[in-house]
Amino acid sequence: MLDKIEEVGSNKSSFYQLFGGTENIRILVETFYDVMDTDPKALPIRALHPADLTSSREKLFMFLTGWTGGPQLYIERYGHPRLRQRHMPFSIGESERDQWMYCMIQAMHSMKLDEKLMQKLAEQLYGVADFMRNQS
Ligand code: HEM
Repeated sequence: MLDKIEEVGSNKSSFYQLFGGTENIRILVETFYDVMDTDPKALPIRALHPADLTSSREKLFMFLTGWTGGPQLYIERYGHPRLRQRHMPFSIGESERDQWMYCMIQAMHSMKLDEKLMQKLAEQLYGVADFMRNQS
């Protein structure tokens, strides 16, 4: 397992494989939005999202499945993600980025993911979350 984690990024192993496929990505995303929906620390970013999170859950699940190296479900349905552009209508600064990461890390912890896998995944996701920032 640890050797495989080292290989992530060198294209020999994907997060998707290490995760064990779509089922765990689904659990991660469901837990992520459950945290966002209930934890007061995430209130400001929860308020940016629609009241009904069903489509947010489905889109993030589809996106992360492809992003981790699995089937490109999001691209097949919606085309190129253009994630940064899609986030432009929302004001995202450091605090929103950190709240998003907080929800994700809480979700990873609750799944008791391998510490090293979690660290790598969090590092990569932080890069994406930081790229979404459109406020200094
Ligand atoms: C940095 C903090 C972030 C904030 C505050 C944020 C907020 C939002 C909001 C308000 C929406 C629109 C509602 C919805 O469709 O759910 C959205 C959509 C989305 N976000 Fe984020 N987001 C952040 C970071 C990320 C990151 C890091 C990813 C991917 C790793 C991501 C993936 C997506 C996807 C796939 C959608 C759906 C896009 C679409 O097809 O409409 N977001 N986000």
